[in-house]
Amino acid sequence: MHSRELLTAAADHAASFLDGVPERRVGPAEIEPAVLRAALGGPLPDGPEDPRAVLDALVAAAGPGLMVSQSPRFFGFVFGGSLPAALAADWVASAWDQNAVLYVAAPAAAVAEEVVGGWLADLLGLPVSASFAITTGCLLAHATGLAAARHHVLGRAGWDVEARGLGGAPPIRLLANGDFHVTLARAVRLLGLGTDSLVRVDTDAEGSMDPGALRAALAAGDGPAIVCAQAGEVNSGAFDPLDEVCDAAAEHGAWVHVDGAFGLWAAAAPSHRQLVAGVGRADSWATDAHKWLNVPYDAGLAFVAHPDAHHGAFSASAAYLPTGARDAMDWTPDSSRRARSFTIWAALRSLGRAGVAEMVERCCACARRFAEVLGAQEGIEVLNDVVLNQVLVRFDDDDAATDAVVAAVQAEGTCWMGPTTWRGRRAMRISVSNWATTIEDVDRSCAAILAAHGPTPAR
Ligand SMILES: Cc1ncc(COP(=O)(O)O)c(C=O)c1O
Repeated sequence: MHSRELLTAAADHAASFLDGVPERRVGPAEIEPAVLRAALGGPLPDGPEDPRAVLDALVAAAGPGLMVSQSPRFFGFVFGGSLPAALAADWVASAWDQNAVLYVAAPAAAVAEEVVGGWLADLLGLPVSASFAITTGCLLAHATGLAAARHHVLGRAGWDVEARGLGGAPPIRLLANGDFHVTLARAVRLLGLGTDSLVRVDTDAEGSMDPGALRAALAAGDGPAIVCAQAGEVNSGAFDPLDEVCDAAAEHGAWVHVDGAFGLWAAAAPSHRQLVAGVGRADSWATDAHKWLNVPYDAGLAFVAHPDAHHGAFSASAAYLPTGARDAMDWTPDSSRRARSFTIWAALRSLGRAGVAEMVERCCACARRFAEVLGAQEGIEVLNDVVLNQVLVRFDDDDAATDAVVAAVQAEGTCWMGPTTWRGRRAMRISVSNWATTIEDVDRSCAAILAAHGPTPAR
């Protein structure tokens, strides 16, 4: 079959899926892994199969196991959906099959990457001189920022970590927001720094780092130090006081890395920008495009205020590799890689500065609506200060009752959100990060949640 026919069939399948998304039950069908294994599995076929038959078989087999995280009423994790322009760009990027490893291998992808790096630094309030990398996600963005940090702080101690490794190196102290995201620890493990070197700095009730505790922790030791701050705690959405964090770090010559997987996007919305005051003073930043920028999976973003450290951590040369314009492999842990820059470029072009701000602000307004509607009901408590897009809701002040409401909401299918434990208490965790979510979606979802909780009089 000619590619055009095959790709048209793929577009039809995709459009049929997307057409159904707004009204489709949110969440996967109740399907056992064994059913999916039977549909997708079996022995490796001995011979070839017609591509169209393969496509149709994939759609039929995978369909029942798809999570409809594209839905405007999907509030689980912090996923985001995909903007139409970004999705379309992703398709052509697949067709172009560019290897964005080197400028010479994919010139347009390399330049698009340079361009989006500048646009994003501007949008997110970061120094325009910062270097930049597109990664698979925030975990690898942490690894990128922390590799640059490791290079820098050990370099100042006279240790070339890229050449000598970590054996015998001066120990690095990592002073992290005590409620750090699990991916930070994984990046620390990957870099060989060891999770034992992570010192948890006290946070307040919302999960925001106590700058006094940070000062004390910094003063309690010496030698190379990296402060791991947070813009947007994964449960509560809380922000560290970044100006004060940077002041404290500067007094001790420590590097500041910011986990802003979704919270960094507050900088793009005038109404929320104050939450990240001081963010531009940090040394490295990690965030995602696949979350709040709503590009299709996957795309993470790392920025580093010290391009030399960033380049020093990753650059490599080999006789057959040309050097010239910006080669992405000098800035990321990857070598061969997908041209994610096209998707990000399309998302930013389709929204513009005002569109990104509106999307972030609408998501935050939706989160506040959840808190207002649910928090007004007897027996329902909002546990966090809803400063961004995260809402933590507890039912009947009881762990089992809360889990039961979450399970009932998931089973009913109007919307989907998961549970969490916050400060020792179970909670429903609502994250609003989809470009398509409206106040009407929130109201429908609240009605479903209230029905799952059972009839209770308004306060
Ligand atoms: C605060 C925070 N940091 C890091 C991550 C990890 O992001 P990724 O899954 O893109 O690696 C997340 C994901 O939810 C997050 O919320």
